[in-house]
Amino acid sequence: NALNSLVDSVPDDLSSTDKLRFENEMDSFFALFRRYLNDKASSTTTLNWDKISSPTNDKVQSYSSLKSNNSDDSSSSNLNKLAVLKLNGGLGTSMGCVGPKSVIEVREGQSFLDLSVRQIEFLNKSFDCDVPLLLMNSFNTDRDTELIVKKYQSHRISIKTFNQSRYPRIFKDNLLPVPKHFNDQLDAWYPPGHGDLFESLLSSGILDSLINEGKEILFVSNGDNLGATVDQKILNHMIETGSEYIMELTDKTRADVKGGTLIDYDGQIRLLEIAQVPKDHVEEFKSIKKFKNFNTNNLWINLKAIKRLVESNSLQMEIIPNQKSITVGNSDFNVIQLETAVGAAIRYFSNAHGVVVPRSRFLPVKTCSDLLLVKSDLFNLQHGTLVMDPSRFGGAPLIKLGSHYKKVSNFQQRISHMPKIIELDHLTVTGNVFFGKGVQLKGTVIIVCSDGQKIDIPNGSILENVVITGNLQI
Ligand code: UTP
Repeated sequence: NALNSLVDSVPDDLSSTDKLRFENEMDSFFALFRRYLNDKASSTTTLNWDKISSPTNDKVQSYSSLKSNNSDDSSSSNLNKLAVLKLNGGLGTSMGCVGPKSVIEVREGQSFLDLSVRQIEFLNKSFDCDVPLLLMNSFNTDRDTELIVKKYQSHRISIKTFNQSRYPRIFKDNLLPVPKHFNDQLDAWYPPGHGDLFESLLSSGILDSLINEGKEILFVSNGDNLGATVDQKILNHMIETGSEYIMELTDKTRADVKGGTLIDYDGQIRLLEIAQVPKDHVEEFKSIKKFKNFNTNNLWINLKAIKRLVESNSLQMEIIPNQKSITVGNSDFNVIQLETAVGAAIRYFSNAHGVVVPRSRFLPVKTCSDLLLVKSDLFNLQHGTLVMDPSRFGGAPLIKLGSHYKKVSNFQQRISHMPKIIELDHLTVTGNVFFGKGVQLKGTVIIVCSDGQKIDIPNGSILENVVITGNLQI
């Protein structure tokens, strides 16, 4: 009933298309909500641990073992079957920004979005092909994104945007929807996770127009993964094997033990997320022995297969209930939002498998520590792609910046000139530390500034295997 009155609350001046879209959204939300209640009642969300095993070699292949029989000519014709999609529904709030995360400046004045555009423009020019860039926005990100996209109108790239669904949050205690009206405050609603991609692609009409243009494959990735470039070897492999879904995985390090992994569940390939793991098996899940790699969320998906599965209502990905607190009037309320993940759909596609790719294809920027890494001399920018400097020995250094660097604005204030880190192994900075110009960091550098104090690292300092503590002005 509460949902019915929400549907009835649409303003009279809303176009019939928008009205229909809203009604469809509320129907889909209701189906998700009912499934959530059923799962809860029957405890079907719990996996039977004994049925889980590591996937067989044909289900998870290594990137180096992929064979491609393609000549250069067919490579470019394969590129014409491709569309690239960036998941762009998320906000930059965890890095203290307002607006879409994709507009954060990453490198040489360019944002995540600018870099994606540069990459695809270069691809289109180099191979004389026409790969479009799609952005899946949410109601939180569409306005700002549209403004940025405008500047690329005259470029050699077709950029299409569409919005994902807007679902009502529900109160935790009585499970009633938070919004009472179509126009209710923004935080009464939420974008229901990137698993919403399939439905929104179809309902926006984008899926049909891509198929009509002769596109066959969609390369999907997180907007903040700077390593997610178009890889022709994987594209050719996908076309040659007729696979409907390929998930790029990469080997786990100690920093990513919580990432979702592919498993064999009763003979079927599935994504296993830490939230689905029974408590007494969490350590086993995190260990590198049984589950060696994790999902990068770089996914290659067949467009016609998406259409078939969405139209037959077959995609029933695991529901992730996400708890939040919001303020209504003067009171705080606990609310739940029901989300799904795009990677969890793997089990519905035929001949789906994982490919273990080099770490360089997973370069996410989740924190300002990651931002320091990608802004530094460790990487060179080549046509929108970050390439690790060849003089670097080994992988990326471990960087841990403390809470004084949580927001991008704090980071920019304290590190206005990037230190040179090509010979750095490990950096920890806590407290109020300011870096001067031309600083070089080598080996292990630890800087700990006491509460209420300030440390200035002077211009041109070379810090190698040092620990700096207290209120030291070096
Ligand atoms: P997440 O919020 O899921 O990132 O967004 P995360 O918490 O780091 O989790 P991982 O990386 O999935 O493990 C990942 C991408 O999905 C988009 C975000 O904009 C980001 O690019 N996203 C997320 C959407 O487009 N819509 C959503 O509803 C949620």
